Amino acid sequence: MQVNYWKQRWADGRTGWHLSDVNPRLIEYWQHLGIDAASRVLVPLCGKSLDLIWLVEQGHEVIGVEASEMAINALPQSEKLSLHCGDFFEFSDPTVDAWYDRAALVALSPELRGRYFAHLASFLPHGARGLLVSFEYPEGMREGPPFSVVEDEVRALCGDKFKCELIDRLGSSEIETIYVLERI
Ligand SMILES: C[S@@+](CC[C@H](N)C(=O)[O-])C[C@H]1O[C@@H](n2cnc3c(N)ncnc32)[C@H](O)[C@@H]1O
Repeated sequence: MQVNYWKQRWADGRTGWHLSDVNPRLIEYWQHLGIDAASRVLVPLCGKSLDLIWLVEQGHEVIGVEASEMAINALPQSEKLSLHCGDFFEFSDPTVDAWYDRAALVALSPELRGRYFAHLASFLPHGARGLLVSFEYPEGMREGPPFSVVEDEVRALCGDKFKCELIDRLGSSEIETIYVLERI
């Protein structure tokens, strides 16, 4: 799933992943990171998610990265919210303290998922903590994106670069999985 695929989806209005409210998983699980309001938070592949606004409301300085100009233009920018329009694989910021991933990892094809974790590991400072909302479903149940990314894969992606704690599993056939990660 390359950037042009996503830009086309935005242009066609095929943005079924977008929620009209803040993701309840973010509200429920963000506290598990144990970070303070002064922490700078990165949101890779952020779309036009209202989660960015919620994170700002918690006092964080938030940096969203998104390939689609249409998505970026739908969001307000402020002193606390900066948005970078471009390919996440060309972005880095070694000053962030935390990150939030909802529908970013699962939006990427298997080969890009490895690159995504390697890229995060290349610039995130040691001790940076991340909330990952992943998604699992039985093989063949649907065609991604979103892709099914099971716990074994998340752990393999983390390798020796990230500590990984599974916090919750929600649902039955389509399961949302919540992880707290830490760059080690
Ligand atoms: C499934 S959506 C999720 C958006 C957001 N996280 C949310 O929860 O609403 C994935 C987003 O990633 C963007 N995207 C995909 N590949 C990207 C890349 N390499 N760099 C930056 N953005 C990318 C797409 O344009 C799309 O908005």
